[in-house]
Amino acid sequence: MKKKSIVILGIETSCDDTAVSVINRDRNVLSNIILHQKIHEKYGGVVPELAARLHDKYLTKAVNMAISSAKIKKNQIDAVSFTLGPGLIGPLLVGASFAKSFSMGLKIPLISVNHVQAHILSQFIKKVNINKNSYPKFPFLCLMISGGHTQIVKVSDFFKMDILGSTLDDSVGDAFDKIARMFGFSYPGGPKLESFSKRGNYKRFIFSKPLVKGLDFSFSGLKSHVLQFIKNKSKKNPYFIENNLYDLCASIQRIIAEILLEKVKAAISDTGIFRVSLAGGVSANSEIIRHFLVFEKQNKKWEIFIPKKKYATDNAAMIAITGLLKYEKNIFDSVNVCSYSKFQRFY
Ligand code: KG4
Ligand code: ZN
Repeated sequence: MKKKSIVILGIETSCDDTAVSVINRDRNVLSNIILHQKIHEKYGGVVPELAARLHDKYLTKAVNMAISSAKIKKNQIDAVSFTLGPGLIGPLLVGASFAKSFSMGLKIPLISVNHVQAHILSQFIKKVNINKNSYPKFPFLCLMISGGHTQIVKVSDFFKMDILGSTLDDSVGDAFDKIARMFGFSYPGGPKLESFSKRGNYKRFIFSKPLVKGLDFSFSGLKSHVLQFIKNKSKKNPYFIENNLYDLCASIQRIIAEILLEKVKAAISDTGIFRVSLAGGVSANSEIIRHFLVFEKQNKKWEIFIPKKKYATDNAAMIAITGLLKYEKNIFDSVNVCSYSKFQRFY
């Protein structure tokens, strides 16, 4: 008998991207729409109230675009999945209300998704990686590096995940953004810092690595060190930043890449698990990717899975694939399910 085709719609509104995607049972992405909210650039960070209003304005349009570019009809959708949390509560509530109404209107199941879990499960989208065609076998480790989170997670199954280490203060994405802001870059500064690094000498400036035991991270010390350093230097030379921008960016990016790789090496030696995926916006950084790929080449046991940029940064395909994996296990929600802003646990 021919297997029924399943179509899942995913909605992501946890921060400043209004994103909608359609995925089918073969884990192929049929559409992946992202409407970026440019307005936040001038404020140096996301303004939650503005983000919520813009999600409200763009969501219907994004859903219609996702449905038409997937070349499906609304009545072919089997379930709607959406980000329940963590994230900014106003933006989350807009997505949740939309998804709940959509599920009631079409009489289809509602599936809530944990945003961080979705970043990790994006590995199960077909052709997600730049360097591997197969899905990682369980168990694997995930280095989850985004604007909101920095974690090393042991993934034993789709819905069995354990956090082995996480940041004690700032996330790595936040460190990129805050340091980039000191250099005058608009939000989000991570990608801008990366592009300036390309012309810089990473050996010019040495910043100290945080001394954090075990598999946890800390980035607030690095941020303060950079701030103090450029303040001191700028007193003597007001053009210090402008004159040294490329080298500053390259030196900072390099040390962050080293910190991340060292922690993952420690996690591998603690667990004996040699498969590692990267996830989250910061895993789009080419220097971080290079560090991991060089190490993979030198260590035949290692298997590194690196997502394409469009699946590393916030997107709704990761919400749709998590929705599909839950649908296959009959994990559904009622319309009473409540959005939450802070990460609590994987479930
Ligand atoms: O996963 P994501 O899109 O949203 C969250 O869930 O937080 O991650 C956003 C973060 C921002 O801090 C952004 O600056 C950072 O990812 N980012 C980068 C790069 N692209 C995005 N950081 C460094 N290099 C990049 N190429
Ligand atoms: Zn994210």
